[in-house]
Parts: sequence; structure tokens; C-alpha cells
Amino acid sequence: MHSLLPLVLITCANDNSARDLQKTFPKLQPDNFAVGDFLEQHTVDLAMKGVNMVIHIGPPMHPQEAACGTIVIDAARRHNVGHFILSSVLHPLRQKMLNHKVKLEVEEYLIESGLPWTILQPTHMMQNMALKPIFSTGVITMPYSPATVQGFIDLTDFAQVVLKVVQSPEEHNMARYELLGCVGSYNEVADTIGRKIGKPVKVERIPAEQAIARMGTHPYTQEAMKRMLYYYDTRGLTGNPNILRWLLGREPCTWDDYLDRVLRK
Ligand SMILES: NC(=O)c1ccc[n+]([C@@H]2O[C@H](COP(=O)([O-])OP(=O)(O)OC[C@H]3O[C@@H](n4cnc5c(N)ncnc54)[C@H](OP(=O)(O)O)[C@@H]3O)[C@@H](O)[C@H]2O)c1
Repeated sequence: MHSLLPLVLITCANDNSARDLQKTFPKLQPDNFAVGDFLEQHTVDLAMKGVNMVIHIGPPMHPQEAACGTIVIDAARRHNVGHFILSSVLHPLRQKMLNHKVKLEVEEYLIESGLPWTILQPTHMMQNMALKPIFSTGVITMPYSPATVQGFIDLTDFAQVVLKVVQSPEEHNMARYELLGCVGSYNEVADTIGRKIGKPVKVERIPAEQAIARMGTHPYTQEAMKRMLYYYDTRGLTGNPNILRWLLGREPCTWDDYLDRVLRK
């Protein structure tokens, strides 16, 4: 029975993530992980041994994110991987953001690789926002306008889509899915949280430089962060939930649903 299950390599769960995963899933053994840099072909080849399917998640704001992607795709080809799932981003065609533009390059490389593929394009994960400090302080800090409308997806909804593709790769072969659960401004998110916890929650604007500094000092990273924050400030990253609704076969999770789930725990 066990041999019928595909062996799936998930990239971008590296050193810190490996430790977290092992804590959450104690059955995972040290040899279930290959810790190293995407740019070290040897490590990538080692990780690819016996693998039937790859889920590739690129390192965010990395100056060589495209190279990381093409190295993993090439290795998948060499190892005759049966299906390659690329976790990209919503609207990589918004090329004014370098971190979106780079994903377009990786998408093109995968599509032309000859490998069977599926591309998933999620928007902002709701889980990016640490809720505990917001519950206690009543403050959300934000390096861009909280009035601009953004798109959101619950990580659990995203994971369910990944699972569907892993379970039926042929059904999703050569598909590119825009994945977004709901839209709204951070002011509206603050109001929803306030309503749920029964106390006012406000958004405080912090300087963009503060957020940029957290991501590192490489000139590419600095520029990519600046462009992204300007874009979020002025345009936002929005889209349409139809594809996610269709894939899940139900309504996608909203902020209301997500907060109810968190507060029930
Ligand atoms: N978060 C979102 O809302 C969102 C939405 C859409 C798309 N995305 C995209 O999804 C990807 C992941 O984003 P995230 O927010 O999940 O990032 P994250 O939480 O910062 O995780 C980044 C991961 O990359 C690993 N990593 C960094 N550099 C590496 C390298 N050179 N070689 C191997 N591994 C490396 C890190 O390893 P360690 O475990 O050792 O730290 C970590 O596991 C990015 O491409 C991002 O653009 C994110």
C-alpha cells in the first residue's frame, strides 16, 4: 500500500522549517530532510532521489530566486520526476514588482521544460499576520496604506488545493491557478478582528524602511522590497476568488471564518 503513495519533495522547507516540521510531525526522520542551498546542485540532486513529485517554493526576495527555480526544475528533469508543482504568486505579470517578475521567469522555464506541471498562484496568506500580539495590543503595524484593498488566502485552503493536485496530478496537468479567497483593506481586517475579540483594533503605519531592513541588506532585496511596498501602498494585490471556489468545491475561507477558527482553539 505504502509504495502506491508518491514520494513528494517539498522545497523551501530548509533548516528552520525542518526543525518546526519535525516538532509538529515527530514521525518525520532526519533523512526525510535535505538541508542546504538551492544553488548547491549536489544537495538538490540528493533531495531528488526516488522522488515522484516536486512542490517547489522559491526563497522570497532572494537575488537568485530564478536560478534556484531553474536548478530545481533541471534536477527534476534529470531524475524523471513525474509531476512538478510550482508555488508561484498571484499575478506574476505585475512585473513592476521584482519578486513577481522573477516568478514569471521560473513559470516559463517550467512550462518549457517538458515536465508535467501545475502552477499555483496564491495571494497573501492570512497566516502572515501574527494574531496573538494584535489580540493583546489592539494594534496592527503596517508598512503601507491600510486603506488599499488587498487579496487574502487562508493557508489551509491553499494546502487543500496542493493536496488535490498531489492526489490527481493528471487532472491538473498544465494548469495555472490564480488563488485568492477574499479581498478587503487592512482597515476592514482590523474592524473584523475588533468585532471578534470585543475590543477596538487599529492599524498603525510604520516606515517602509523598517520592513525592508528585516529582509536583509542585498541591493536586490532592498529594491524588490521597496517596489513591492510601493505597489501594495498604491495598487494592492487583488484578484478574484472564482478559481479557488471551483477547486475547493465550497466557499473559500474569509477573515471571519479564519478568526473564528483561531479563536475556537
Ligand atoms: N507568504 C505569502 O503570503 C506568500 C504569498 C504568495 C507567494 N509567496 C511566495 O512563497 C515563497 C515563500 O514565501 P514565505 O513567505 O513562505 O517565505 P518564508 O516563510 O520566509 O520561508 C522562506 C524559506 O526559504 C528557505 N530558504 C531561503 N533561502 C534559501 C536558499 N538559498 N536555499 C534553500 N532554502 C532557502 C528558508 O529556509 P529556513 O527554513 O532555513 O529558514 C525558508 O524555509 C516566496 O517565493 C514568496 O514570494 C508567499
